[in-house]
Formats: sequence, C-alpha cells, structure tokens
Amino acid sequence: MSATTLQIDGREVAADAGMTVLQAARQAGVNIPTLCHHEKLEAYGGCRLCMVEVESRGKTSYVVSCTYPVEQDLVVRTRSEKVDKIRRVIVEELMAHAPDSPELQRLAYEYGADRNRFEKEPIFCVMCGLCVRYCAEVKGEHAVGFIGNGPRREISFIPKRAAQVCWDCQECFTICPTSYAQAAYMLTEALAFPGRRRTTLP
Ligand code: FES
Repeated sequence: MSATTLQIDGREVAADAGMTVLQAARQAGVNIPTLCHHEKLEAYGGCRLCMVEVESRGKTSYVVSCTYPVEQDLVVRTRSEKVDKIRRVIVEELMAHAPDSPELQRLAYEYGADRNRFEKEPIFCVMCGLCVRYCAEVKGEHAVGFIGNGPRREISFIPKRAAQVCWDCQECFTICPTSYAQAAYMLTEALAFPGRRRTTLP
C-alpha cells in the first residue's frame, strides 16, 4: 500500500492509503474518543464523537474521523475549541438517554459537559449499534437488531435466535458503552425462555 503523509496535531504522521483518519491517529498514538467504532467492524459513523477538524487545500471542515480517509498533506486537529464544543454537546445529548453510563460520565468529565443540560429521557441506550453490528458482522448470528424508527428506535434481542446462541456468547455485553445490551438480553431471557440458566450481572 502506498504511504500517505499527513499532519495530526502538529506532528507529521505516515499512514497507508485507504486508512481512515482515526486509524492513522491511533497508529500514531493520538487518542480520539469513539463510541460506535470497533476495530473488527465496518465503519459506521453514527455517534459523531470522533469528529475532528481537517484542513485541506485551504479549506477547514469538521469530519467524522472513523470514516474520513487520509489524504496527502491533510492537516488534522483532534482538539480545538470547536471540536471540544461539538463533543461536549454530543455527550450532553447522550447523557439525557444514558445518564449512568460510566463511559459517558468519563467523557462528560473530560469535556466539561453539563449532565443536566437536556431533559432526561432515559432509554439507557446510545444507539451506537455495536451489539447489533458485532452480532451480525463478527458472529454472523443476527440475534439482536434495531426495531422501530426515529425516537422509537431501539435494540432488541430476537427471542428465538437469542435462546439458541446468546447463552454461550454474550460478547456484545462487554462492548456496550452503557450495559443496555446486557439488560435487554436479560429481559428477553426472563420473558421468552425463563427456564434457561439465568445470566447474572457481574
Ligand atoms: S466513532 Fe466515529 S462516528 Fe462514532
């Protein structure tokens, strides 16, 4: 693969053509926060937390680093007043839905987010889709999916499939940033196949 040189936070960084800005940053040891990204999954670009500032051919813009490809001489700033503000508002919005998420609480502290800025509508899920995509793309199982649209969209385990495959897997529990995947599974287990061994909280 041909090499591309770009600048990240003032440092010259080499990356393979075809890499995303997030991959190039991580390879160079630069941290960019993510919620919906997982290295084993196709880029999703859903949470927008990984937004960075880029400058190319004299033009500055704000892009989602987990989907944006590197390009020669691209200038990337992973922290700036505006980048931090964008991330702060994203965290504030997500905290209205999942206020107890340790990951969101950590991000709120880092970006000075006001946990009470938006009215609380706890659904305990941030719609990152990690559980859905991991189950489909890595496990090839489709035991959990999205249902509903717009504000009613949520993740749900498919009882018949979950009864067959989840008891022995549960890998999505550990990648969920809010623990909602585990709670949703336990509800499915209790309602749809109560005779099975119960999953226990860690
Ligand atoms: S991590 Fe890039 S949009 Fe979620």
